[in-house]
Amino acid sequence: MGRRMHRKLFCFLILCCLYGLFFNTQWIKDLFKDHNQNSVTQTHRKNIIKLVCQQNNLTFNSSYIISSFVSKQLYVEHSYKFIYCEVPKVGCTNWKRIILLLNKTFDVSPEDLKHFDVHNHSSLVRLSTYNYSQQMEMLQNYTKVMFVRDPLHRLVSAYRDKFLHEEDTYYSKTFADQIKAKMRKNKNSSQKVTFEEFARFVIQEKARYRDTHWKPMHALCDPCNIQYDIVGKFETMKEDSDFVLKTIKAPKHLQYPNIKHYPNESRTNEEISIKYFNSLPPKVLEDLINVYREDFSLFQYLPVNHTKNTKNTREISKSALSFTSLSSSSFLK
Ligand SMILES: *[C@@H]1O[C@H](CO)[C@@H](O)[C@H](O)[C@H]1NC(C)=O
Ligand SMILES: *[C@@H]1O[C@H](CO)[C@@H](O)[C@H](O)[C@H]1NC(C)=O
Ligand SMILES: *[C@@H]1O[C@H](CO)[C@@H](O)[C@H](O)[C@H]1NC(C)=O
Ligand SMILES: *[C@@H]1O[C@H](CO)[C@@H](O)[C@H](O)[C@H]1NC(C)=O
Ligand SMILES: *[C@@H]1O[C@H](CO)[C@@H](O)[C@H](O)[C@H]1NC(C)=O
Ligand SMILES: *[C@@H]1O[C@H](CO)[C@@H](O)[C@H](O)[C@H]1NC(C)=O
Ligand SMILES: *[C@@H]1O[C@H](CO)[C@@H](O)[C@H](O)[C@H]1NC(C)=O
Repeated sequence: MGRRMHRKLFCFLILCCLYGLFFNTQWIKDLFKDHNQNSVTQTHRKNIIKLVCQQNNLTFNSSYIISSFVSKQLYVEHSYKFIYCEVPKVGCTNWKRIILLLNKTFDVSPEDLKHFDVHNHSSLVRLSTYNYSQQMEMLQNYTKVMFVRDPLHRLVSAYRDKFLHEEDTYYSKTFADQIKAKMRKNKNSSQKVTFEEFARFVIQEKARYRDTHWKPMHALCDPCNIQYDIVGKFETMKEDSDFVLKTIKAPKHLQYPNIKHYPNESRTNEEISIKYFNSLPPKVLEDLINVYREDFSLFQYLPVNHTKNTKNTREISKSALSFTSLSSSSFLK
């Protein structure tokens, strides 16, 4: 009797599994796919970063001392042992919302945390506030995360956000006047800073003085010397943020909030970026790609996507990528 039941149960389970395998049932797929897929993607991204860093001598040896600039980009959340590197224009406001919401004392919804309150919130703690040995211990024990984005989309996003809105007068007025004074031929024109003026300004700036909104991502977070556990991408924010939250074992109800600063405007995308890049003289575009050459290689983005003029940009892409000894064919697949 008992044995017959067991045999029936066994057959039933076998049939369930076969059914799952043959008909690709979603729950079977989800069970194995998501986690594996994310780990494979992460391993791939991290291997490329390691390789490009080594080939370009961007990795320091053991006596590395984290720079005070980078330690100010890193935010620490202790209850979930989470360190987040802030890269402006890659969803950083929403990541700061998450850090605040991980703290149980904030019993609010993400929408209640307004843009300007989030950015200078007194409960956000930077790694730089700790002494050196504490910093090293946290860097060793905590889950370190950074998010990246196509470097030129990020640049367009910075331009639209900072120079086409009046709200933040430090950029739309003070900074804009500096750019005009340097770049504008006809000083009488009261027109807003154009994208070409902005691009030329970024190209001629000294690297270490570049504003964090357009400073190259590798210079903000130093992925050659800080071994990030997860390198997420803006382009796959949903999957990558889910993976981060799962990895740090965040409460299940907490999700990446995806709130936009200007709700009525579309996010910077391929279509919008291409319009801006087609307006630039080829030499300016080439120089701009060169400013972000490490970001393109480290994070596997293709400069070739940026204009419709493929022949021209293929040449530019090749020259931008020639600084890595990775064969450009593996990039331009
Ligand atoms: C990196 O450093 C090594 C040894 O100092 C040197 O041989 C090599 O040319 C350097 N590579 C680059 C890309 O600068
Ligand atoms: C590490 O750095 C020191 C000092 O900068 C240098 O002398 C040494 O050769 C480096 N070691 C390696 C393995 O690169
Ligand atoms: C954040 O900035 C606002 C406006 O600039 C200011 O009123 C507020 O006191 C600041 N908060 C903190 C915690 O610095
Ligand atoms: C949570 O926020 C409160 C209030 O700002 C703060 O005192 C506390 O240290 C935070 N907890 C953690 C784990 O960061
Ligand atoms: C760092 O700070 C901790 C806690 O305040 C303290 O115990 C430790 O002695 C400090 N270490 C150094 C090297 O100053
Ligand atoms: C880091 O990990 C070590 C070893 O597992 C442990 O002794 C130490 O307390 C941890 N430090 C923090 C800040 O969690
Ligand atoms: C700028 O304005 C001044 C005075 O209004 C005028 O004399 C000058 O010709 C103008 N320059 C240009 C380039 O338009």
